Amino acid sequence: MKRVFNGFYVILSIFIIFNVLFLKCGNISASDVSKSENIYRTKCVRCHGKDGKKGRKGAKDLTISTKSLSYRINQLKNGKGKMPSFSERLTDEQIEMVAKYSITQFMNDSTLLKK
Ligand code: HEC
Repeated sequence: MKRVFNGFYVILSIFIIFNVLFLKCGNISASDVSKSENIYRTKCVRCHGKDGKKGRKGAKDLTISTKSLSYRINQLKNGKGKMPSFSERLTDEQIEMVAKYSITQFMNDSTLLKK
């Protein structure tokens, strides 16, 4: 009786561990894009627009920007001109995500990601 009972818990534990690992892995890759989309929508659209071209407050057109990833990360952290700094509102990880997004979404030039 006791052995059956233990066996049940072993199987239950394996099931739980498997699910936790599986869901976690799924989340990282699948939701990264939607996370950056979400950040862009809530923090950037009001000036840059959904299409990157809105230009409110003199926001640069993101569809023609050749600025590198490191330049963008730096600008998002420190702000520039009328563009505010986001270091109080976003984590470093979120800043990097949305900076990458601003390249992959609007510029068809993956070399910008490496600079
Ligand atoms: C209050 C308006 C405003 C918001 C909000 C804003 N920006 Fe900007 N953005 C600007 C302005 C203005 C500039 C031009 C700054 C300058 O060069 O003087 C700019 C420039 C940029 C540039 C550099 C483009 C280039 O070629 O120089 C990038 C990249 C950028 N923004 C990305 C973002 C992202 C990503 C977000 C959201 C996290 C964001 N911006 C939110 C106003 C804004």
